[in-house]
Amino acid sequence: MSKSLQAIRGMNDILPEQTPLWRYFEGTVSRLLDNYGYKQIRMPIVEFTELFKRSIGEVTDIVEKEMYTFEDRNGDSLTLRPEGTAACVRAVLEHGITGGGQVQKLWYIGPMFRHERPQKGRYRQFHQIGLEVFNLDGPDIDAELIVMTWRLWGELGIRDAVKLELNSLGTSESRARYRDALVEYLSAHHDKLDEDSQRRLKSNPLRVLDTKNVDTQAVLVDAPKMADYLDDESRAHFEGLKARLDAIGIPYVLNPKLVRGLDYYSKTVFEWVTDKLGAQGTVCAGGRYDGLVEQMGGKPTPGVGFAMGIERLVLLLETLEQIPEEIARQVDVYLCAFGEEAELAGLALAERVRDQLPHLRLQVNAGAGSFKSQFKKADKSGALYALILGDDEMAQQVVGFKPLRGQGEQQSIAWDALAAHLATCVVQG
Ligand code: HAM
Repeated sequence: MSKSLQAIRGMNDILPEQTPLWRYFEGTVSRLLDNYGYKQIRMPIVEFTELFKRSIGEVTDIVEKEMYTFEDRNGDSLTLRPEGTAACVRAVLEHGITGGGQVQKLWYIGPMFRHERPQKGRYRQFHQIGLEVFNLDGPDIDAELIVMTWRLWGELGIRDAVKLELNSLGTSESRARYRDALVEYLSAHHDKLDEDSQRRLKSNPLRVLDTKNVDTQAVLVDAPKMADYLDDESRAHFEGLKARLDAIGIPYVLNPKLVRGLDYYSKTVFEWVTDKLGAQGTVCAGGRYDGLVEQMGGKPTPGVGFAMGIERLVLLLETLEQIPEEIARQVDVYLCAFGEEAELAGLALAERVRDQLPHLRLQVNAGAGSFKSQFKKADKSGALYALILGDDEMAQQVVGFKPLRGQGEQQSIAWDALAAHLATCVVQG
């Protein structure tokens, strides 16, 4: 195929055989979020470039290297959103819905765009489900976010495959003090740092902490520790969070090097990671950003949130074979009709059944066909039962009811009794 007719590298079609698992995942998460009292918000996919520069930080990989930025026909610089927090903050400010200390618990779902090097679990268009909470500043809400994800992993059957990493970055004041100490230490070891870390030392020193370079890692062993620079308030907040996780029995690992790739965080940061997906093992990540709303022009408003990568979680479900059997089946019942009269009667009968059983997945054969070919299609559809309307059934005003999986003889059911009969044999979702 010529190049122009292919999808863009790192931007994938999600094919019909994959969408049932995506919908199962998205449905499970959205039900959970509803149950915890979160409301959905939908933001545009494109925003002014300035929004991301100001919120994510000018000297982050995302803003420096990964944004899809273009000029529109008015000459405005626009960017495909690389994440959801910035737009969510913009939206709550623009609509004044966090004013006067109003609490907002919001979630969103959709595609995000980053020009990263594509590989398994890392794409240029990927999908997140994220949430943001405004105007709650205590560790109780940080804990709720983590508890909720813990419950989700349980429902999905992947709890044993993920690990929670936690850190506190402190307030901006304590982080500034720590940054100074770190810069002083690293500057004294400048020659031993890799090139990228030397650059980061000038632009964004905390990011040196999550270097992958082993020589730089060796230098970091004796570097000042963030925990020693935490102010009392951040320390108490962090202890409050840990106490809640301990009370529920959620295991965690303290990772003092966890700094995150976006600049807006303060106090709590966390990541859920798995070792089952290779290099791209972070499936959900977030933290607190108490200074961001003010930095974006609003009143001081505490905020906390996270986002999970749908591709990575779907991959994990596949890898661990945690795919519920019923989601693979798309059809409960397949109706075969032979001859024009039977087709018309079948159409009317199917609509009557759908009126009475709105959740039934009933597929009516289209394109006519012989007995053999319609049965083949019924079987291939994965349906549990076939309904048959031929000359005999038409004469008696019944429908043949034939189990396609497992035992059971074909029976005749009166048209009027069909919906009631189906209700007893098909478990409805
Ligand atoms: P993030 O760590 O940049 O945070 O992304 C969150 C999650 O999105 C990652 O843990 C990963 O699962 C997924 N993800 C990120 N990049 C890619 C990619 N290129 N391909 C596939 N999946 C990816 C944020 O975006 C923050 N806005 C999270 C947040 C919300 N913090 C507070 N509120």
